[in-house]
Amino acid sequence: MNAVVQPPVNEASNPATRNVAIVGATGAVGIEILKCLEDRNFPTRSLRLFASPRSAGKTLPFRNSQVVIEALTQECFKGIDIALFSAGSGISKEFAPAAVAAGAVVVDNSSAFRMDANIPLVVPEINSAALTEHHGIVANPNCVAIIACVPLWPIHKHNRIRRIIASSYQAASGAGAAAMADLRDSTQAHLEGRE
Ligand SMILES: NC(=O)c1ccc[n+]([C@@H]2O[C@H](COP(=O)([O-])OP(=O)(O)OC[C@H]3O[C@@H](n4cnc5c(N)ncnc54)[C@H](OP(=O)(O)O)[C@@H]3O)[C@@H](O)[C@H]2O)c1
Repeated sequence: MNAVVQPPVNEASNPATRNVAIVGATGAVGIEILKCLEDRNFPTRSLRLFASPRSAGKTLPFRNSQVVIEALTQECFKGIDIALFSAGSGISKEFAPAAVAAGAVVVDNSSAFRMDANIPLVVPEINSAALTEHHGIVANPNCVAIIACVPLWPIHKHNRIRRIIASSYQAASGAGAAAMADLRDSTQAHLEGRE
């Protein structure tokens, strides 16, 4: 077991290869980020996984290794090139500045920086050019907004959309891993005739 995953041999010489960290790696979003890195064969020189002290010492699989989860600290970002944050807005506000100070680019999935005029809010399919304007942090929108904007953008380019009236019905997963477990457990209890 390792806190740092070594890259496949053909990645070691790839200049795009990066030291990557996931903050909130054990969460509903963090687990999906981990799967995306693996499915897309993202060129990682090393991968570090951070979560709360509750998860420190547990492991998650990545490629052919088990990666040890570390407790998040202000000092943990040394050597990280890209830090993918999904541990809630409070954690992002508290720890993203330390990641940037250590030289990392932060991609933040929380709401912490979405309304900050100095931080680009990016959906790659729509405004990837804004990535060139970041000062260390890149925000992304709410999950419903991202998915709605992708098909609306080409329509907007041809026929300007003035107003959108939308209702969104969030899945239990939108409230995180604990809500998904609660839905599963309470559904099972209901089907078994329990409280
Ligand atoms: N769920 C979605 O569909 C979705 C979509 C887009 C964006 N987001 C945003 O992404 C963020 C995470 O959402 P989620 O659904 O993945 O939540 P979640 O399942 O509750 O996961 C929260 C993560 O944050 C970690 N964490 C909690 N307290 C911490 C602390 N003090 N120090 C370090 N790590 C800590 C947890 O670690 P432990 O396991 O150790 O507690 C876990 O890894 C939120 O800001 C959310 O708004 C969510």
